[in-house]
Amino acid sequence: MTATGMTRPDATRPMDGDGAGVSLDRSVTGGPASVWEGETIRLRPVVADDWPAFAAWDQEDETSRASYQIDFPRSAEATRTWVEEAATREYRGDRFRWVIARHDGTAAGTINTHTCDARNGTFSFGLAIGQDHRGHGYASQAIRLVLRFYFEELRYQKVTVHVYGWNTASQRLHERLGFQVEGRLRRMTFSHGDHHDTLVYGLTADEFAAGA
Ligand SMILES: CC(C)(COP(=O)(O)OP(=O)(O)OC[C@H]1O[C@@H](n2cnc3c(N)ncnc32)[C@H](O)[C@@H]1OP(=O)(O)O)[C@@H](O)C(=O)NCCC(=O)NCCS
Repeated sequence: MTATGMTRPDATRPMDGDGAGVSLDRSVTGGPASVWEGETIRLRPVVADDWPAFAAWDQEDETSRASYQIDFPRSAEATRTWVEEAATREYRGDRFRWVIARHDGTAAGTINTHTCDARNGTFSFGLAIGQDHRGHGYASQAIRLVLRFYFEELRYQKVTVHVYGWNTASQRLHERLGFQVEGRLRRMTFSHGDHHDTLVYGLTADEFAAGA
C-alpha cells in the first residue's frame, strides 16, 4: 500500500468565496445540481479505470511523502487490485474516498475521510493533488465540498487535519480555508533523515458556515 493510496493527514483567512468557492445557498440561487459539483472539479467515487492515475501519483515521491509516507514501490498489478478494491468497497460508517475530477473528466487527485466519529461529530481527511494539477484551486474546492456534506448532511460538527510541520503548502491551504492551528505534536514523523513535528488544524461547522 503506498502513500497516495492511504492519504491520511490532515488559517487565517476565512473562506471568502473566491474563485475556489462553493456557494452555501445554492438551493435558493439555483447553483450546481449536485452537492459533489465544484466550480471546476467534481468529486466522484473511485472506479477501476482510475488505476493508472493512482499509479502515476505513486511515482511522485513528494506527493507520497506529504500525504503519508514513501513506501516500497508498488507494481501495476498491486495498484490495479487496490484501486479495484477501492472501487467496489462497501464503506462502513462515514469513511469515503473520492477522486477529484476536472470537469473534462481528468483525475486530478484524491480526497478521503477517516476517523469519523458520528457520536461526537468529529472527522478527519487526507488529500493529494497530482503535481501537474496544482495551483488551480482543486484542493480548496474538494475540501469545501466534503466539509459541506459532512456538516450539513451528516451532522458532523468538527474537522481536524494533521499536517506535517514541513508541509507549508498544506498549511497555507488549510489556513486559507479558515482552519486554525490547535496544536503541535512534537517529533511525530521521520522523513528526510530527521524527525518532524505535526501540526493539528481544526475547523468547526459554525466557523465553516460563518466563513462561507
Ligand atoms: C497541498 C495541496 C493539496 C494543494 O493542492 P492545490 O490544488 O494546489 O491547492 P489550491 O490550488 O486549492 O491552493 C489553495 C491555497 O493553498 C496554498 N498553496 C497551495 N500550494 C502551495 C504551495 N506550493 N506553496 C504555498 N502555498 C500553497 C495557497 O495559499 C493557495 O491559495 P492561493 O493560490 O490563492 O494563494 C497539493 O500541493 C498536494 O497535493 N501536495 C502533496 C500532498 C499533500 O500535501 N497533501 C495534504 C496533506 S495534509
